[in-house]
Amino acid sequence: MKKNICLGIALVAGCLVLAPQSAVADEVKSLRGNIDIEAPSLPPEVEELIPDQKPIKRDYVKQPPLIPHKIDGYTMNAHYNKCLSCHSWANYKLAGATKISPSHFVDRNGNELANLAPRRYFCTQCHVVQTDAVPLVENTFKPVPALQK
Ligand code: HEC
Ligand code: HEC
Repeated sequence: MKKNICLGIALVAGCLVLAPQSAVADEVKSLRGNIDIEAPSLPPEVEELIPDQKPIKRDYVKQPPLIPHKIDGYTMNAHYNKCLSCHSWANYKLAGATKISPSHFVDRNGNELANLAPRRYFCTQCHVVQTDAVPLVENTFKPVPALQK
């Protein structure tokens, strides 16, 4: 009880100077009480992205094609979209990349635009890079026969 009062006074009136520093330090407790923090687990290992390759076969009609190359460090924000420096209609030939399809120029009301539709601007909403990882669940999906060849 006395200790508590002293601690209270220490905080309010600054009687800190009177008490030996180490004794005060011993009294300090975290909100967690005596429960130890669990030893931090190791950060998950970053999976290897599969190396750049030719376009990956699509599994169904209208599938957003998977990204067959790394995109580390490719800026995509309100001011700049690195993907377009290779995939836009202006640049695709020089880059040897697939040009974005006409569907990417249509807004949600069906109007054909002269430029990329805002809803298609953030490419990675739909297009994803591939990681060589063990599938978490079994997948028995089979492409339609026309796309199996
Ligand atoms: C430095 C140039 C370059 C940049 C930047 C780039 N790509 Fe590519 N991309 C390519 C090339 C080259 C191919 C392969 C084309 C081929 O071999 O037919 C490709 C292929 C693709 C494909 C597969 C197309 C298909 O038909 O299967 C997708 C999807 C794609 N890129 C998306 C993206 C996205 C999204 C970004 C931005 C995060 C991006 N790319 C940035 C050059 C680039
Ligand atoms: C809302 C989803 C969505 C967004 C966002 C999107 N795409 Fe696509 N993309 C698709 C779908 C679906 C297809 C396949 C069907 C089609 O061509 O419309 C496709 C096709 C493509 C293709 C293949 C074209 C072809 O002729 O085979 C390329 C390349 C591509 N997208 C690049 C991009 C790039 C680069 C961006 C960002 C600037 C982007 N996409 C944004 C959904 C999207």
